[in-house]
Amino acid sequence: MTPAIDLTHPRRALPPRTSERFNRPRLVELPRPKGEVVRTHDGRELHLRPIEPGDVAALKRQFARLSPEDIRRRFLHSMGELPDPMAQRLCRLDPAMETAYVLMDETVRPAELRGVGRIFVDEAANNAEFSVLVEHDWARQGLGALLMQRLVDDCRRRGLSEIWGYVLLENRPMLQLCKELGFVRRLSPDEPGTTQISLQL
Ligand SMILES: CC(C)(COP(=O)(O)OP(=O)(O)OC[C@H]1O[C@@H](n2cnc3c(N)ncnc32)[C@H](O)[C@@H]1OP(=O)(O)O)[C@@H](O)C(=O)NCCC(=O)NCCS
Repeated sequence: MTPAIDLTHPRRALPPRTSERFNRPRLVELPRPKGEVVRTHDGRELHLRPIEPGDVAALKRQFARLSPEDIRRRFLHSMGELPDPMAQRLCRLDPAMETAYVLMDETVRPAELRGVGRIFVDEAANNAEFSVLVEHDWARQGLGALLMQRLVDDCRRRGLSEIWGYVLLENRPMLQLCKELGFVRRLSPDEPGTTQISLQL
């Protein structure tokens, strides 16, 4: 008995149209492994890579785990939640102006974001403002220093003359970390209770 002709997929048995054959990309883009594995002082593993638009949900979950103190230290004011447009914006970068690295914990499902460091370039001033955050349970593992070092390297690659950031004066961990990386306090802070720290590159 002859097999039935499948009319639900009329083009299945036909060769591709000429336009399809000649417009096909010559190379198939295979997914490439991105980033690198980072081992913490106490032996846990994280994956360091650039932030991606698909990280919005992980960024929001991380925000929900942060203490009010960590939120204030990172954003310099209190915030109850990370609004969706802001989360989207933080994950969708303009590579000419921004870099952001995330530290992903891929031992859990879904993978969780444990740390993030970013810079925003001011082309006119030839410098970049940084921010960094490492989740409490992952602190004192060398991750904040690693993220800062990567941001400094990125600024150097971009040919910038300075990397700087706002830090609350009570934020001893961040002031200590930056001191060890060679940052110094800038004069004339704009806001009371806040200082600017910077590194000339
Ligand atoms: C500040 C912060 C980024 C530090 O991250 P971290 O991963 O814990 O830092 P590291 O483990 O790389 O520490 C590097 C060095 O910084 C200093 N440091 C870090 N945390 C410290 C603390 N709680 N007390 C004193 N020194 C501290 C130490 O000198 C440390 O070296 P050591 O552990 O060998 O002594 C983290 O605490 C954080 O995210 N805080 C909330 C957000 C924030 O403050 N962001 C900064 C403003 S943008």
